[in-house]
Amino acid sequence: MIYSEKVMEHFANPRNVGEIPDADGIGEVGNAKCGDIMKMYIKVNDGVITDVKFKTFGCGAAVATSSMATELIKGKPIEEAMKLTNKAVVEALDGLPTVKLHCSVLAEQAIHAALSDYYTRQGIDPKPILGEVAPPDTCEI
Ligand code: FES
Repeated sequence: MIYSEKVMEHFANPRNVGEIPDADGIGEVGNAKCGDIMKMYIKVNDGVITDVKFKTFGCGAAVATSSMATELIKGKPIEEAMKLTNKAVVEALDGLPTVKLHCSVLAEQAIHAALSDYYTRQGIDPKPILGEVAPPDTCEI
């Protein structure tokens, strides 16, 4: 299995690892098949994601995609973060081996879950905005 240099680099030096104690939204998603778990914390100010941190108990591809995903949404308006797809994350990492593509779905789902939590805390129903948070995908390992 060949990983791109960017994937290896983000795996070796993941960005934005940790927790935000006073987060405005927290999303936790898990992969039923491989048991990997991802937790995402966001801080929102004036509709902009001012900070984001994650913790991943998972494979290297999950760590690298979370790292890249946090980089892509940090400092962005929530509307933009909402539209981030796992495909865009994979492209930003110069690709992932096909059997690891499903790992990248965790990051997208964790962001959506954190945004959903953020809206709920604001007293806003997240469903019309985000749609149903998709159930965790399965990993092909
Ligand atoms: Fe479970 Fe990658 S996220 S193997």
